[in-house]
Amino acid sequence: MSTETKTVNQPSLDDNAVREAYRWWAPIYDYSFGVIAGPGRRLAVDKLNEEHGRILEVGVGTGLSLPRYRTDLDVTGIDLSPEMLSKAAQRVNRLGLRRKTLLVMDASRLSFADESFDAAAVMYVMTVVPEPAAVMAELRRVLKPGGTAIIVNHFSREKGARAGVEKWLAKYSRSLGWHPIFPIQNVTEAPGFELIDATDAAPLGVFTLLRLKKVG
Ligand SMILES: C[S@@+](CC[C@H](N)C(=O)[O-])C[C@H]1O[C@@H](n2cnc3c(N)ncnc32)[C@H](O)[C@@H]1O
Repeated sequence: MSTETKTVNQPSLDDNAVREAYRWWAPIYDYSFGVIAGPGRRLAVDKLNEEHGRILEVGVGTGLSLPRYRTDLDVTGIDLSPEMLSKAAQRVNRLGLRRKTLLVMDASRLSFADESFDAAAVMYVMTVVPEPAAVMAELRRVLKPGGTAIIVNHFSREKGARAGVEKWLAKYSRSLGWHPIFPIQNVTEAPGFELIDATDAAPLGVFTLLRLKKVG
């Protein structure tokens, strides 16, 4: 497997807004949100390390997860942001990581053949993408039958103080660059998947790791 970055498909206008935001985030990501997201990311890779074969990481960002994968797994990381992916490529080269392929690609229009991967992970991406349902559909398409999908994200609450904060934050969704209101059912009830388990991830259970299996 090679370590390369190349552009595979063209962005839509919404994709351009995400690219613009992450061009800004790329130099500071590892020292800011990248740290907060650490516990959930580590938990996700621990679960992926129970899998075999080809792994897809959607929205791999600066590649903070990459050094943790079992070395015999073939890991393909895709991301919409060339700047984030360039950081990931630097990490791969600096640490001499093997079996890693990095591609600029839109999660809602994956360029892989059907049933290409044994497992996939989407960490802290679902509330950023314009079309989460399309991402779930693409995941289902590229996973082999019975394949595992791991989604780590913040999911909104329906009641309580946190629900109030999320509702307030939602007014600033555009400038935040993510959607504070994102019900867990968007993932757990995605067509063609069955929920295996859900695990709270630090800090303070703000994030949840969902493990799903492709069915049907
Ligand atoms: C919050 S970062 C998470 C990065 C990484 N998964 C982590 O655990 O740190 C969100 C990432 O999703 C990427 N992204 C957003 N929309 C995307 C899309 N439609 N397709 C692929 N990647 C996307 C962004 O460029 C960014 O790198």
